[in-house]
Formats: sequence, structure tokens, C-alpha cells
Amino acid sequence: MLPILAACAALLLAGLVTASPFGVLEPASLFSRALCSSSLPASCQNTTQETNLCCFEALGGSILQTQFWDTKPATGPTNSWTIHGLWPDHCDGSYSEDCDPSRDYSSITDILTDANATSTLSYMQTYWKNDPNDGSDEELWEHEWATHGTFYSTLAPDCITSSVYGQDAVYFFGRVVGLFQTLNTYQFLESQGITPSSSTTHTQSSLLSALQAASGYTPAISCSGSDLSQISWYFNLQGSLIDGTFLPYNAPSGSSDCPSSGIKYLPKNE
Ligand SMILES: *[C@@H]1O[C@H](CO)[C@@H](O)[C@H](O)[C@H]1NC(C)=O
Ligand SMILES: *[C@@H]1O[C@H](CO)[C@@H](O)[C@H](O)[C@H]1NC(C)=O
Repeated sequence: MLPILAACAALLLAGLVTASPFGVLEPASLFSRALCSSSLPASCQNTTQETNLCCFEALGGSILQTQFWDTKPATGPTNSWTIHGLWPDHCDGSYSEDCDPSRDYSSITDILTDANATSTLSYMQTYWKNDPNDGSDEELWEHEWATHGTFYSTLAPDCITSSVYGQDAVYFFGRVVGLFQTLNTYQFLESQGITPSSSTTHTQSSLLSALQAASGYTPAISCSGSDLSQISWYFNLQGSLIDGTFLPYNAPSGSSDCPSSGIKYLPKNE
């Protein structure tokens, strides 16, 4: 618990003031990403070089784009994985959650609607699905924002100049959707001849090799029993979550959580 509190306190302090190029502390409301260095390090690397945490994702610099393959009950399109979230962790596999309860929004749908982010919202309604036994899609979105979104140093209130209510969440959901669209796990597997089947079994290493061959990077996979159920794609971030660059890297070895063999990639329509 203590390291989590310390990390959150550091985040809040970092948001209070913004170092200007002239060495004067400016009111944070004047923050502009244009003041960020053009040669920022990647998150988790050279972590003391950039001290402005609106420019450098400091606390959760290892970022996992997590996806579900839900078959019982099936959610989302039969030929697509669905979004779980975008989880910042402390570069070492540990992570902090629920960093700023004052920003736990009560309606992500209303926030995106009022911000005119309608294409993001309609994409989420198709591809960001809760297990209906766990609650509504809206509840999953609120949970993902409150639990993980509020931990990004680069989305802290004083990094945001817009006065739109929930603009931090608008940036978050837009980035998650955009990144997910580049990570078509279904297509990666299909390109290697792996499609859902109720009878075929796979080894963990063959699934990881296929995903590596198709995407260039090794993700981590998880199973529910022996059924493939989740995947995590790993990134560092150069710059702010708002407009920075995602830099893919291989999941640390041992981060997958499936049996070594006998894995089923079940169809969604049974
Ligand atoms: C870290 O800093 C060193 C020395 O300034 C530099 O050579 C290296 O490229 C930097 N690494 C990253 C990932 O920015
Ligand atoms: C959304 O669109 C409406 C109508 O065009 C406009 O009045 C409003 O300012 C927009 N809101 C935002 C946050 O851009």
C-alpha cells in the first residue's frame, strides 16, 4: 500500500507546477506540450532525464494494451477480440490503481457524447464489451478509467489545458481505441493459420510464435482453464499519452499464463 500512496503523491506534486524553459515556475494551467523536449526518452528509460511529468510518462511507463477473447458468454464480433483496457505499470510488472478518486467519472458515455467524440463512442459500443454477468459496458469503461486511466502522469489535471469536462478521459479513450485498431489479434492469428475451433488444441509456445511472426512482437496470453481468454501487448511511450508515440516491446518471459499445451481457441458462436 505505501509505495502506491507515495507514487500517487509524487504524481500530484508533479502536476502542481510546470518548469518553463526560463527556469521560472509557471502556473500549471499554462502547460503546453509544445514545451516538451523534442528528444524525450522512452518511458521506463532514462527516467530522471525529463522531470516534467506532463511530457514523460513516469509512474506507469510500461503500458499493456489488454484484450479479451470472451466466449462464455460471447461478447463483441465473432471475428474480433475486444478491448479490456490500457494499463500503465511501474516498468517492473507492479502497478498502482485508483490514483485520483476525484476523477472517477459517473458517465463515460455522457462525457464522450458532450465532447463530440461520437466515433470513439460508437467504436467502443462494438469493441469494448463487458461480460454481461459482470455489468454493463459503461461500467467497464468507468472501471478502466478510474482504476488505470487516473494513474497516467501525462493525463494529470495540470497537464490538460482544455476546459471540456472529462477531457482527460476523452484523450484516454481515444488513444485506447486508436491503439487497439493497430493490434488485430484475430487477424494476426488467422494470418498464421490459427482460427477458432472447438476441437483443435495449441501449445503456448506455438501461439506466442504465431503472434510474434504476425506482429513482430511477443505479447503475453492468459487462459481461463485451458481456454485462451486474454492477451496483453506491451509498449513504452515516448511523450504524453495524449499524443506521444507507442513503442512496442516483447512481453517479459514468463508473463503468459496458460497451460503449456492443450489450449483451445474456442469459437464465439457456440
Ligand atoms: C539515455 O541517455 C543516454 C545518455 O544521454 C543516451 O545515449 C541514450 O540514447 C538515452 N536512451 C534513451 C532510451 O533515451
Ligand atoms: C460539440 O458540437 C457542438 C455542435 O457543433 C458544439 O456547439 C460544441 O461546442 C462541441 N463541443 C465540443 C466540446 O467540442
